[in-house]
Amino acid sequence: MPTKLRQWIFAKPMADDVLGLEQFELREVAIPELQQGQALVRVKLLNIHSGTRARMAGGMTRLGDTDRSNYACAEVIRSRDPTFREGDVIACQAGWQDFQIVSSGDASVGYGPPGELVKALNGTNSQWNYVFRPAMVKMWPPEVLMEMFGTSGMTAYFGTRECGPLMPRDCVAVAGTTGSVGSIAAQLARIAGCHVVGFAGGADRCKWVVDTLRINACIDYRARDFEDQLRAAFPDGIDVYSDGIGGALTETVTGLMNRHGRLFSYGGAAAYYADKLDTPQQRPPLRRAFGISETIETVLKQRNIKSECWIVDQFYHERLRAEDDLSRHLRSGALKPINNVVEGFENLPRAVVGLYTTSRSGKLQVRFEPG
Ligand SMILES: NC(=O)c1ccc[n+]([C@@H]2O[C@H](COP(=O)([O-])OP(=O)(O)OC[C@H]3O[C@@H](n4cnc5c(N)ncnc54)[C@H](OP(=O)(O)O)[C@@H]3O)[C@@H](O)[C@H]2O)c1
Repeated sequence: MPTKLRQWIFAKPMADDVLGLEQFELREVAIPELQQGQALVRVKLLNIHSGTRARMAGGMTRLGDTDRSNYACAEVIRSRDPTFREGDVIACQAGWQDFQIVSSGDASVGYGPPGELVKALNGTNSQWNYVFRPAMVKMWPPEVLMEMFGTSGMTAYFGTRECGPLMPRDCVAVAGTTGSVGSIAAQLARIAGCHVVGFAGGADRCKWVVDTLRINACIDYRARDFEDQLRAAFPDGIDVYSDGIGGALTETVTGLMNRHGRLFSYGGAAAYYADKLDTPQQRPPLRRAFGISETIETVLKQRNIKSECWIVDQFYHERLRAEDDLSRHLRSGALKPINNVVEGFENLPRAVVGLYTTSRSGKLQVRFEPG
């Protein structure tokens, strides 16, 4: 049994919101003795979230501490918690560290409490902590479990379902198509038979989107004539908009939405990737945080557009059904997981910094254990 864990901590404040390797420091911590109701897990792979820098800037990740809110795939190596058995592969929240003590009684870090049905399904007090079914572990590696069957795939799955169902005649716009959720949402809309157009930053990335995700077209959202290209791509207007970006792009795209259209708005990534971060004292309401401005609200109202805005755990009591449906699409080859895996615990700071400085596609993840 290991007696120590390695942990990256947030060691030095950022200057001008610029995240560098100097913000991270490695420390070793003794693993405390397991108490009744606790389990020790070895972290196999950790998802890196685009909100990581904002959490550091805004004090949610405290100086001298690790970020405890990451979504991880881990193996139970010792347990005194009846929910987690030794050998189980689980999803859990974890720090930037290679071992973690978890408990089915733990509340989630950074989110509200789960619904009663989610608690009953997971057997835990957190929407993000649960044991994967053995069949899922047999079929899919950790990077797919934490992307397609983690928050990205679930958001794309429930989003396309809730703003639909999508019909073959629907014209669908997908923001952040090179990103983790957008790359899956675009593929699900294509599988539903829709006319699908994505948005990405640059011609190369647009080509990658069309070639890899096999959707109808992709437009560079930075192009000067973006709005003209958008009109040309949607001569009959937009029926459905999948949006995890917010800001100026959302305002332009919703301007072209049809009456009785459907907007599924799940995030405000533009703010997370902006050079300058906005760190308000108080958390804004979800619709504002996801970039739905007053101007957009007016358009939605005038055109009677159905507008969905939520955190995906709202649907997690249906997680197993989503896992089955997405598994079927993966096995048929219609759906591709898009993972961007950085190897090695020691490379975690480089991966987090790289999220904001280099172009990449799909879900950024750090694998602690070799394949
Ligand atoms: N509601 C929920 O439950 C839920 C679940 C999952 C995620 N989220 C949120 O959804 C958002 C997206 O998540 P994700 O995991 O898909 O993010 P991601 O993998 O980091 O992708 C974000 C994409 O945003 C694009 N982008 C960045 N700045 C942009 C701008 N100014 N204008 C247009 N596009 C821009 C990037 O495209 P290029 O690189 O091509 O420029 C990138 O591919 C995040 O805010 C996340 O917190 C919410």
